[in-house]
Amino acid sequence: MTKILEIKNLNKTFKKASESTKAVSNFSCQMNEGECIGIVGESGSGKSTIAVIIAGFVKADSGSIFFDGNELVFKGKAARLQRKSMQMIFQNPTSALNPHMTILDNLKEAVVYYEKIDKDAFYAKAAEELKKMGLTPEYLHRYPKELSGGECQRATIARSLIGRPKLLICDEITSALDVCVQAEIIRYLLELKKSGISILFITHDITLTSQLCDRIIVMKQGKIVESGNTKDILENPVSDYTRMLVGAAY
Ligand SMILES: Nc1ncnc2c1ncn2[C@@H]1O[C@H](COP(=O)(O)OP(=O)(O)OP(=O)(O)O)[C@@H](O)[C@H]1O
Ligand SMILES: [Mg+2]
Repeated sequence: MTKILEIKNLNKTFKKASESTKAVSNFSCQMNEGECIGIVGESGSGKSTIAVIIAGFVKADSGSIFFDGNELVFKGKAARLQRKSMQMIFQNPTSALNPHMTILDNLKEAVVYYEKIDKDAFYAKAAEELKKMGLTPEYLHRYPKELSGGECQRATIARSLIGRPKLLICDEITSALDVCVQAEIIRYLLELKKSGISILFITHDITLTSQLCDRIIVMKQGKIVESGNTKDILENPVSDYTRMLVGAAY
């Protein structure tokens, strides 16, 4: 199996004035191509910090990250190519899209940084990505405020797919949505997984991992408490903390 992601001993402490918070301690994990890994844990356990470090928005204090066989870099063309191949989606879909641009222009903005685009070819590509998310081409001409929360999140996912990423980092992407729309988004993610995209799925709701994730990593105060196959963890959690998360959820 090809490894898409390999993280070794990641550490991050945030320092503000006299205070310091150790957000991530010695985090390591490996992810195979096409796999979906869930990172679960209570608020403040370091999940988003791991995500933004992988996505290159924040630098770790120490540790290494290999993506698709190469160590992640932060500058130059190599960094741009790596970022194009990994896309991050956030919790709030409406703030992820520019409200003053149509969905088409929002999608365009995601690729102009990386490549020259032909207008007609791009329109067809954008329509195709929206279709994968169950939205008709008509949505390309709408503004974000003219979409429901769930439709907006689907448009955001379509935008992240337009550069053909190998890895999607999803940070609480269903938290702002009602349960029906949540289930719908999970269904779309399952389709993407079938198409070979690797997914890092971050959530505080351990139940959401059951259909989608092959493995789960349970975090508490920046540290891995437990990790393993989703079914094993949900059915036979070893640590009290995981038992508490599972118990609270079901
Ligand atoms: N930019 C920052 N500056 C200072 N502290 C930060 C910063 N980002 C995160 N932290 C702190 O690091 C810890 C981990 O935060 P993080 O956002 O990774 O948690 P989380 O697991 O994603 O939580 P949630 O489920 O609420 O999103 C928290 O104590 C948080 O206050
Ligand atoms: Mg978070």
